[in-house]
Amino acid sequence: MTNRLDLAHRFPGLADGWARFDGPAGTQPVDVAIDATADFMRSGQVANSHGAFAAAEACDQLMERARATVARLLGADPGGLAFGPSSTAMIMRVASAVSRRLGPGDEIVCTQLDHDANVMPWVIAADDAGATVRMAELDTTTGRLPVEHVTAQLSDRTQWVAVTGASNALGTIPEVGAIVEAAHEVGARVLVDGVHRTPHRDIDVAALGCDAYVTSPYKWYGPHAGVLWMRPDLLDDLAVAKVRPADDHGPGRIEWGTPAYESIAGIMAAADFLLDVGMASIEAHERAGFARLLDGLLALDAVTVHGPTDLDNRAPTLAFTVHGHAPDAVARRLAAAEVAVWDGHYYAIEAMTALGLIDRGGAVRAGMAVYLGDDDVDRLLEVVAAL
Ligand SMILES: Cc1ncc(COP(=O)(O)O)c(C=O)c1O
Repeated sequence: MTNRLDLAHRFPGLADGWARFDGPAGTQPVDVAIDATADFMRSGQVANSHGAFAAAEACDQLMERARATVARLLGADPGGLAFGPSSTAMIMRVASAVSRRLGPGDEIVCTQLDHDANVMPWVIAADDAGATVRMAELDTTTGRLPVEHVTAQLSDRTQWVAVTGASNALGTIPEVGAIVEAAHEVGARVLVDGVHRTPHRDIDVAALGCDAYVTSPYKWYGPHAGVLWMRPDLLDDLAVAKVRPADDHGPGRIEWGTPAYESIAGIMAAADFLLDVGMASIEAHERAGFARLLDGLLALDAVTVHGPTDLDNRAPTLAFTVHGHAPDAVARRLAAAEVAVWDGHYYAIEAMTALGLIDRGGAVRAGMAVYLGDDDVDRLLEVVAAL
């Protein structure tokens, strides 16, 4: 029996028969998200917010329903839920707003486990204000981010901590709750980059205790976009740049311009899809397929898996190299067998540098998704074994 959630038929993009392990770079969209986007475009309700006619009111209602649905997925207060073009854009907006109130002596803590989207915006923000970024180091032997490596960088000067919810390169899931607690003890705020965590884990930002969280719906079967959640009181207080007529309170402050309604309709449908399937089922399914992938790769002498080599506290994503073969050559051999993987650094610049891979073509990355089964895993393993 193959390990399948039996959802592959819901993804029209899989009709060509490829095994798509490129989910960490973007998943295939689910049927309901595609339909919701197209349906909105055809609906006659394409208008703008805050108008005095039916289509404009429908736009207001769409925004309200979409905020409520995505907030439910994240266990968050919908009053702090903002839509935008990408997570990178949303973190840039937050960091540049934070920068306006930073000064010399203030500190931001970033980590080597993070995607550059949660590093560089803070470096720029700190540079602009004459503040300092302190970097929490990855444990390169285990591929983990020990809590102590973060707490060692905290002080009463720390204003914000920017930490990933899961590494898009190594899969590592850090102990975010403990990091948030320590940051709050010194009076700092925490932004969690949840881009790689949201597709794979039940998210409860209230339980995580973080002050802000970002996620990208195109990593969870929806349209290309970014979502920022921030504690509503904090969002209202953020010194965000905005045009005068834009809302003074709530998510509209940071959404910048007319929302991408058609995309937001698709995001809501994708969030509903995850809620319907249930994150516990998704996690169990992906864990089983991932165990097969990890075991299969670890059994090959020529393969090195970088980062954690166990199944605990990790997303179902791994980075590997094959002795004697450049990562891009491995990716091309897999592509010839219609297996899609990523190669390179995938913007995880700090981690790839710390691991000594950055100047060696990075590594091959494969990530599980709801639509992948054991047969897909076996296809990948066969090609790698034959190298
Ligand atoms: C962990 C992580 N953070 C942030 C990003 C950036 O997301 P976006 O493409 O929505 O800007 C990515 C994209 O790959 C990611 O994997």
